[in-house]
This record gives sequence, structure tokens and C-alpha cells, in this order.
Amino acid sequence: MNILLMGPPGAGKGTQAVVLAAELAVPHISTGDMFRQAVKEQTRLGLEAKGYMDSGALVPDGVTIGIVRERLALPDCGKGVLLDGFPRTVRQAEELDEILGGLGSRLEAALNIDVEEQALIERATGRRTCRDCGALYHLSFSPPKTAERCDTCGGPLYQREDDQDTTVKNRLRVYQEQTLPLLRYYRDKGILLEVDGNRPMAQVTESILRALRQ
Ligand code: AP5
Ligand code: MG
Ligand code: ZN
Repeated sequence: MNILLMGPPGAGKGTQAVVLAAELAVPHISTGDMFRQAVKEQTRLGLEAKGYMDSGALVPDGVTIGIVRERLALPDCGKGVLLDGFPRTVRQAEELDEILGGLGSRLEAALNIDVEEQALIERATGRRTCRDCGALYHLSFSPPKTAERCDTCGGPLYQREDDQDTTVKNRLRVYQEQTLPLLRYYRDKGILLEVDGNRPMAQVTESILRALRQ
């Protein structure tokens, strides 16, 4: 099954994707994580993406579609994928349909996690990420057992560059302008599923699994 997790910045896509990918036994493909990895490794892609990411803007479609096309061609995607944060423009969505079509496959469900704006800002600004394994924490909602350290691997936790208050607000604006129209795109195709994300993480997971089963 090919599934897309959509939602505004801080909605909980990454958090839910980790659980769902394990549950469904498919790879978790996050363009945000791929870009952050490239920035960390200072590759050409990373150098190009960094400026856009730090300001809260989208990386240009051509670049983003290129890295997804390469990723989806790898053999581990044969049984399906869980996409997180891609597509987020109508052009990316159209290209994704074409890429999957070329692989003899298609997107089965686009799941939107809806969260109120004030909670999104709180979630993003309180988020901490493990530098080594990428595990997600939140200072209030999901704190690590030891301050500043990852429960899983002991790595140091850091705050994402784009999780400063003003950048988060900019990302929300970009989401409304460029990504929100995608809901219509998937509703028209009859594959949009909507989940209320204004609840604790485990309850959101339950709702997602229920929506997918139906
Ligand atoms: P990306 O990394 O995709 O960021 P995003 O979409 O802004 O989403 P986030 O990762 O911030 O939030 P999330 O929904 O994953 O929430 P999370 O689970 O972490 O993209 C970053 C940048 O890369 C973009 O701005 C752009 O520049 C570029 N980019 C990426 N994809 C692109 C594309 N397709 N095209 C162009 N450019 C692209 O949760 C947030 C926090 O809340 C965590 O601390 C978590 O613990 C907590 N939390 C989660 N769920 C709950 C809950 N139910 N209750 C309480 N707390 C919760
Ligand atoms: Mg994320
Ligand atoms: Zn870790």
C-alpha cells in the first residue's frame, strides 16, 4: 500500500509515520528528513536546500521531485511506502502520480492530520530531535527520560533551525498557500481521509489505523 501522511508543520506527521511504517512494514519516506540529512552531510543538495528550509520556504519542485523519483526506484519500495511531507504542491502530486504509474502502482490513501494553529506552534517550538537517530521528542508532551538525551540511542537532542517562532509562522503561511490546495486534489480523486490530530498521540494513531482499515 502507498500512503501519504499530510498535515501542517508540527501536526505530527513524523511522529505518526514512525509508528505506522513499523505497523505496515513499509519504508518511511520523509523529504524533510532527506533534506536535513543532506544539510548535515553538506552535500550539494544540502547546500541548495538549506536556504529555503531556514526561511520556511519550500525547496523548488524540480529538486524535490528528483530526489523522490530516485528514492521510489529503490527495491525496498516495492511493497509500498509511507510518504511524509511529499507531495506538498499540486505539481508534486501530479508528478507523484506519474512516477507511481510508471512503476505499475498508485497512491491508495492521502491521510490529512488536522490540528489547530495554536497547538501547531506549541508543538513545533517545543520539539526536540535526536541528532544521531532522528527520534522525536517534545519538552512537554513527550519529554526524554534524561534531559537533552535520546531514550533510544543516548544521542544529543537539538532544536531544528526552522522551529523558531517566526520561521514556524512562515511555514504555516507557506502551507496555507501552497499545500492546502492539495486536499481538494485528493478529495476529487476520492482518496482523502481526514483525522482529528488535536488529541494525544496514541489516540491519533488509533484513528489513522481505523481510517485506513475502512
Ligand atoms: P518537514 O520536515 O516535512 O517539516 P513540516 O512539514 O513543516 O513538518 P514537521 O516535520 O515540522 O512536523 P510533523 O508534522 O512531522 O510533526 P512531528 O511529528 O515532528 O519539512 C521541513 C522543510 O523541508 C520544509 O519547510 C521545506 O523547506 C523542506 N521540504 C520538505 N518537504 C518538501 C517538499 N515536499 N517540497 C518542498 N520542500 C520540502 O511533531 C511535532 C512535535 O509535536 C513533536 O515534538 C512531537 O513530539 C509533538 N507531537 C506530535 N503529535 C502530538 C500529539 N498528538 N500531541 C502532542 N504533541 C504531539
Ligand atoms: Mg516531520
Ligand atoms: Zn537517538
